[in-house]
Amino acid sequence: MNMRQLSLLAMAVFGFSACSQQAPGSIAGGPAELANMGEVYFKGYGCVKCHAIGGEGGTYAPDLTMVGFRKSSPWLDRWLKNPHAWRDKTVMPNFHLPDNVRHAMVAYLSEQKGQAWGKNRPWNAPAFMKDPLARGHEIFDMAGCDTCHGKGGQGGYPNNNVVGGLIPSLTMVAEGYTRNELLRKIEFGVVSTPADPSKPAPLLRMPPWGQVLDKSEIGAVASYVLSLDKNAAKQSQSDF
Ligand code: HEC
Ligand code: HEC
Repeated sequence: MNMRQLSLLAMAVFGFSACSQQAPGSIAGGPAELANMGEVYFKGYGCVKCHAIGGEGGTYAPDLTMVGFRKSSPWLDRWLKNPHAWRDKTVMPNFHLPDNVRHAMVAYLSEQKGQAWGKNRPWNAPAFMKDPLARGHEIFDMAGCDTCHGKGGQGGYPNNNVVGGLIPSLTMVAEGYTRNELLRKIEFGVVSTPADPSKPAPLLRMPPWGQVLDKSEIGAVASYVLSLDKNAAKQSQSDF
């Protein structure tokens, strides 16, 4: 922790602030300050016991280094309010976070678009560069495809206002898509059509991965997705 983070922590813990003259409810220093505060809370509340960002933290739960790319702020806010309301069987605890803490964490998490890894993305380790399928699997897990499509692409993750209420599993993709169609889908993403146009649009979408992954990364993850097969997925029901 640097000095700035320490002083933010002191503000959080002791409830005083250098900006206490400001009107109540105003955000000290604006969005950057809010995100800094969120980082302090993220560590202070023990989120790091389960989650890692930029290689620091636990590996039990999804890596959050790219969470701000794949998940929108409104969804993050909803998830942190009560994870079980979105996915009843999730093992992530409900922290009953105060609003100001939740807002700061959402600001911090929304900024996480992969930059915390710098040039050392985990799937670029030499062992993975020799094995495109293993590299694709690592991208699937670390870029967070599994946070929507499930471990091994087996599905089971909810979305609001879509037919069937679930994000598609990927174990049948090899039957429905050519490799080129698949590459395009991953590169450009898809916005799902609402099941009921009069209700709020789905909060989760297939992200346009071409914005954060290069062609070789997209190629590797596509190879992994094409290798998924329905029967193999059935055997590995292990969830987070
Ligand atoms: C006991 C372990 C645990 C702790 C502690 C924990 N989480 Fe989680 N979290 C999970 C698991 C497991 C998931 C995956 C959800 C699922 O599969 O149902 C998750 C999912 C998430 C997601 C969505 C991930 C994504 O990539 O889409 C976010 C955001 C998140 N957690 C943030 C937090 C924050 C912020 C804290 C601290 C306040 C926290 N978590 C504490 C276990 C944990
Ligand atoms: C934020 C959630 C989310 C994440 C993360 C995500 N996807 Fe998707 N994906 C979706 C949704 C939603 C759809 C369905 C889109 C639609 O309505 O057609 C989809 C569709 C797809 C499809 C087409 C499936 C079909 O049956 O038509 C493929 C392939 C796919 N995703 C691969 C990936 C890969 C590879 C990654 C990681 C690099 C990834 N997805 C990450 C939400 C996500």
